[in-house]
Amino acid sequence: MAKPTGKRRILIIHGPNLNLLGNREKDIYGSLTLDQINQRIRKAAARHKAQVEIFQSNIEGELVEKIQKAYGKFDAIIINPAAYTHTSVAIRDAILAVGIPTIEVHLSNVYKREDFRKLSLISDIVEGKIVGLGLNSYLLAIEAVIDLFNKREKLSPKTP
Ligand code: DQA
Repeated sequence: MAKPTGKRRILIIHGPNLNLLGNREKDIYGSLTLDQINQRIRKAAARHKAQVEIFQSNIEGELVEKIQKAYGKFDAIIINPAAYTHTSVAIRDAILAVGIPTIEVHLSNVYKREDFRKLSLISDIVEGKIVGLGLNSYLLAIEAVIDLFNKREKLSPKTP
């Protein structure tokens, strides 16, 4: 496999209540804690020689600020906005403002649940969306981001 030539910096964002994973509605979200999920994310990123930073907040404004500050620092965002998926125009606008390729993930299959979870305010502005596969939603998102990086490097192989 060719060595990566470009920058591969991924920001992972977890929204509200995801800090309670492992205890929270285990029948829906599984029994892995957020730390365990993050460990697996870090391993997957390292395998692909990508840098990863992981951020969780229960506060909408903090999520917005983290996205704003990602400008120029990260090459892709993987976000599970949790409940803010369904309500936050501010998170949508922040993603649009920074223009960083973003993948939306959800642990549960939101389409099998209450109707209000079927509405996402970011689905139409992200590169893609992965739902319902628990930890694998995040791991598949990493694979998808790596694929985006590989395609970008093929198009401009001299990126420092
Ligand atoms: C979630 C789905 C949301 O509807 C919910 O509010 C969450 C988690 C998921 O990962 O399945 O907190 O984003």
